[in-house]
Amino acid sequence: MTTVTVDILGPLARVTIDNPPVNALGQEVRAGLLAACHALAGAEGVRAVVLTCAGRSFVAGADIRELGKTPVDPCLPDVLAAIEGWRLPWVAAVHGTALGGGLELAMACHGRIATAAARLGLPEVTLGIIPGAGGTVRLPRLVPMAEAVPLVTGGKPVDAATAQRIGLIDRISHGDLIAEAEAFALELAGQGAPVPARARDLVAGEPVDWAAWEARLRKRGRGAAAPLEALAALCDTAALPAAEALAAERARFLRLSASPEAAALRNIFFAERRAGEALRRAQADPADLAQVGVIGGGTMGAGIATAILLAGSRVHLVERDAPAATAAAQRVADTIMASQARGVISQPAADAARGRLTVGSDYVDLARCPLVIEAVFEEMGVKREVFSKLDAVMPAEAVLATNTSYLDVNVLAATTRDPSRILGLHFFSPAHVMKLLEVVRADATGARALATGAALAKLLRKVAVVAGVCDGFIGNRIMAAYRRDCEFMLEEGALPQEIDAAMEGFGFAMGIYATQDMSGLDIAWAQRKARAASRPATERYAHIADRLCEAGRLGRKTGKGWYDYASGTAQPDPQVQQIIEEESARAGRSRHRFTAEEIMSRILAIMQSEGQAILEEGIAQSADDIDVVMVTGYGFPRHRGGPMFMGRSRAET
Ligand code: 3HC
Ligand code: NAI
Repeated sequence: MTTVTVDILGPLARVTIDNPPVNALGQEVRAGLLAACHALAGAEGVRAVVLTCAGRSFVAGADIRELGKTPVDPCLPDVLAAIEGWRLPWVAAVHGTALGGGLELAMACHGRIATAAARLGLPEVTLGIIPGAGGTVRLPRLVPMAEAVPLVTGGKPVDAATAQRIGLIDRISHGDLIAEAEAFALELAGQGAPVPARARDLVAGEPVDWAAWEARLRKRGRGAAAPLEALAALCDTAALPAAEALAAERARFLRLSASPEAAALRNIFFAERRAGEALRRAQADPADLAQVGVIGGGTMGAGIATAILLAGSRVHLVERDAPAATAAAQRVADTIMASQARGVISQPAADAARGRLTVGSDYVDLARCPLVIEAVFEEMGVKREVFSKLDAVMPAEAVLATNTSYLDVNVLAATTRDPSRILGLHFFSPAHVMKLLEVVRADATGARALATGAALAKLLRKVAVVAGVCDGFIGNRIMAAYRRDCEFMLEEGALPQEIDAAMEGFGFAMGIYATQDMSGLDIAWAQRKARAASRPATERYAHIADRLCEAGRLGRKTGKGWYDYASGTAQPDPQVQQIIEEESARAGRSRHRFTAEEIMSRILAIMQSEGQAILEEGIAQSADDIDVVMVTGYGFPRHRGGPMFMGRSRAET
């Protein structure tokens, strides 16, 4: 199969890249593009070239599988230099996405036209690298530096309208993209020899405050190097002639491609895409998701309903009684409003989403929903009753899911006549924002239920990871394990603020104690009390958290938890330190200071050993799945790749 073809159509040549699924610029495509340049050199009568792509999208960038390996010729900068230096104009016709090397390719062309729905960006920093084929040099020659900085350092793509406003593309096509690109190419041909982007001056504009950007990126990146390197590359462009800036960019790109950060981010990129493979293999048709039932409209139920409404489906939400149903509807409306205020959705989209919600308190109304998700109180008795009621009213083919955090899905499934239609769908709070969905496969869960979990994840654009039944599934079980060990460290001499500072220094957005204060200490306390009777007397147990709860310190909601919030911000509290020291003495532990490195190496070791146990028990299907859970659901810094990846990398070096 040829990945690049050239068609001569009178005065126009059309170069088409066809490399499914996303037209990545692998070696064969690069060689094909160079061969196209050579073929066109001898083509009589050709006045302009249109570069287009087959399939769903323009080029999504370099082939990520090749990054970090020895580059194979021809390298992308040479291919782009050949296109850019061509005596006749090349016009890039962009549909779908033009990302990374794909946008660099478009920028090496002499004109750019895109469909209204196209998205263009330089996401290299999300892979721990910077653009490596002239992106940081050509972009500020097309758009003002003040626009280039967020594009390159943030990695987020822009839509076609924004791209046109800032100068990244010349035209938007509202009709036949190829025909309009051809007309544009002939127009450019009429204007004489094209000017390569690298030969242009930098676009004039507001000066960039480089130091302010550096401070912002340092704070936002939480230890990630690539955004700062991207900024430095743009700084080079501002100071150096184009040829020197191109050479410096390439050297930086090659150095970063071989960095541990880039390896970690590549691993998580592919791990996220492989996650849920077992679900996609389920040989069954999923339930229709045009209308989904949700039971319980508290924090989670309202968030789940919002996520489904925003994805375009209808939701029927059932609460305990009419006033609770009205309150739940209000909660959903408020969440949608907040999304609108943040600019995530437009006003018409928000109105339409609200219009797709119905609420009530009668379970019979759920019978028309092929999938029902319960998110009622975390109590086995309450949930069992809900499942018995569902069993009585739901048609046999309906799929029933629980959002339980810790309860045994097998026990819930046993409440119903057909346990094959029961599964866990464990969302994370806020459910309409968080990307992770743990799909919990109980012993009897059938293919149709699993296929439905996969279809829902796809609809909601979430990453689905399959988990088996155990206490806490994948994520909460690992979190419970390291939380326990953190309390042992408190007993042995550490303080909450030291553990939080170590975690933040490592790259977590928040330490474990600040997080607990935010979500409340009472749920975990209730769980510990429920398990107290069955806990072996010989098992090590730290009483510190229990003592805080007994003292009414339940977190931010009571003004005190691991920290004191009287001043409005989290402040270390001498009373907490006193409780910790008393518990150290009671447990007979001598206290010593912990460095941040010691704290983090203990936390990582516990995450890894619990992860290993989860793998051996078959609760998770792969180490990559565990990393995806920790990165997308538990704030583990993405640029470190996940605890299992870190363990593997350390073992290999
Ligand atoms: N290289 C290799 N494979 C890629 C790829 C790439 N650049 N981009 C996507 N793929 C693969 C995925 O792994 C997946 O493979 P699978 O079907 O075997 O799992 C398949 O293409 C489809 O990808 P998605 O499931 O992600 O499809 P979506 O439609 O959801 O998203 C996308 C499409 C927006 C293009 C998304 O895939 C994406 O963001 N890709 C990465 C884009 C990127 O980061 N480009 C920069 C690369 S670095 C670079 O260009 C360096 C340059 O400066 C020199
Ligand atoms: P919540 O207390 O905010 O909401 C529970 C809702 O269920 C209340 O509105 C209540 O009125 C309703 N409800 C109770 N019994 C009902 C019944 N029989 N019929 C209909 N509605 C009923 O609780 P939250 O936090 O939303 O948790 C719900 C579930 O989600 C729990 O199983 C919890 O473990 C799980 N979960 C919670 C997360 C969180 O961060 N809060 C994260 C992931 C899962």
